[in-house]
Amino acid sequence: MKIAVAKGDGIGPEIMEAVLKIFSASQVPLEYEVVEMGKWVFDKGFSNGMTPEAQHSIESLGILFKGPMETPKGKGVKSVNVTARKTWNTYANNRVFQTLHGVDTVFSKAGIPIDITVVRENIEDTYGGIEHMLTHDVALSRRFITRPGSLQVIKYAFEMARKKNARRITCGHKANIMKITDGLFLECFYEVAKEYPELKSDDVIVDDLCMKLVTRPDNFDVVVLTNLQGDIVSDLCAGLVGGLGFAPSANIGDHICIFEAVHGTAPDIAGKNIANPTALLLSGISMLRHLGFMENAAIIENALLYTLESGIHTGDFGDKSKASVNTTQFAEAIIANFGKQPSMNPKPVLPNMPATPTVFKLEKNSMMVSQEMEAETIIGVDMFIESAEQPTEIARKCQRHAGVKFNLINVSNRGTQVWPTGSVFTNLVNQYNVRFESLDGTPLNQQDIIGLYVSLSGNFKICSLELLNTWGGKKAYSLAQGQ
Ligand code: NAI
Repeated sequence: MKIAVAKGDGIGPEIMEAVLKIFSASQVPLEYEVVEMGKWVFDKGFSNGMTPEAQHSIESLGILFKGPMETPKGKGVKSVNVTARKTWNTYANNRVFQTLHGVDTVFSKAGIPIDITVVRENIEDTYGGIEHMLTHDVALSRRFITRPGSLQVIKYAFEMARKKNARRITCGHKANIMKITDGLFLECFYEVAKEYPELKSDDVIVDDLCMKLVTRPDNFDVVVLTNLQGDIVSDLCAGLVGGLGFAPSANIGDHICIFEAVHGTAPDIAGKNIANPTALLLSGISMLRHLGFMENAAIIENALLYTLESGIHTGDFGDKSKASVNTTQFAEAIIANFGKQPSMNPKPVLPNMPATPTVFKLEKNSMMVSQEMEAETIIGVDMFIESAEQPTEIARKCQRHAGVKFNLINVSNRGTQVWPTGSVFTNLVNQYNVRFESLDGTPLNQQDIIGLYVSLSGNFKICSLELLNTWGGKKAYSLAQGQ
């Protein structure tokens, strides 16, 4: 079986060399095709950080094992790490955080065991990176949460939880504030939960979740979240088990999967052969299991756990009174410990069952659309306008444009209603949302909206607009604070 390997930048090549040395000593039956991705590929002029040959290899092989990569600062280019996850639709980011004996933490010292898997949605949310300056003072980020995207990652999380006999699966969210976006994610969670009655499924608001994770991490098992919240919560969980040096990550898609460490290129220690290869090794071990190399994975993991238990450590962790080893020596210690069993959490050595590699020759992009269930009606529009005038003056001007089809419903600033009622204590910025709805709820069409846009543009610069839709009579938009 052949996989693509990208060594990465900074400490990437050093830790990748250490991990591949361990694989080779364990006679992992894999061949590697080294592909060109990372900072130096940006520098060569490839704006997405990978060569076309690298893209072709990864798309034909289906598995990418990668080291951390640097995104050049100030050049307007996007992170190759995020581009890779999004381009190949690796919709689920799976991160396993387990107590590692030999890695001292507050919890290991208190005898509280941790075994948490965080599944983070990997494509959507603010990571779309769709951002605009609407006025000199006002920046906007669009946050997409979609039904098919949410269902994909949540189904993966439930399936994985079932396979690992999880006790509990929890959805982290902020649906109390973001009722439509996080509300949709939560709705999808409980929709999927119905198919897994044997699993205890519940939800926790993300701020409360963070508090509960640091007070009683042993109460959690599998946690599924949207992208940004998942990013933050998974780093929190990395802290619970000893830091980023112990946090592996698998980016799972239907066709392509990417295995990498959570940490970055560690430029401060690059080139010194002192980096900790554990996170990349744990990612590699999960890749071996994904490919069916169960025996190799267990032998390597047991040797790693034994090595950690015996107190061997790189400079970033462990007993500081004991001399640390370098990256190469750490890898050699693991190899020397092949066949040894750790006293805590030894992994059962199961026979290898390599998956048959599937070659996907996709002809076109797959379209994910849910069945439309309810009739959609346009009943109004939110016009986002630039103005430094007072709310009453804005309302007076807008009412002149409402004509015979529209009613000016309210004016809000940063989501807080400031007309027809509001407070002079609300600070304003130079961008308002003026909400128009149709008179008597009469359905509108796009031409009506364009007519209003043209009329309103006589008085204001319109920065953007959003249609106000109802589905089956239910409002498909949020109300302003105070509306
Ligand atoms: P970082 O994770 O590279 O470093 C943070 C701190 O942790 C540093 O003190 C570093 O020395 C230490 N550290 C990280 N990994 C370590 C290891 N294996 N062994 C010992 N110490 C380790 O985060 P930072 O400094 O914010 O980012 C540096 C670069 O990495 C940036 O260009 C960033 O864009 C990139 N990055 C790439 C990621 C990826 O490829 N998936 C993820 C995160 C950052």
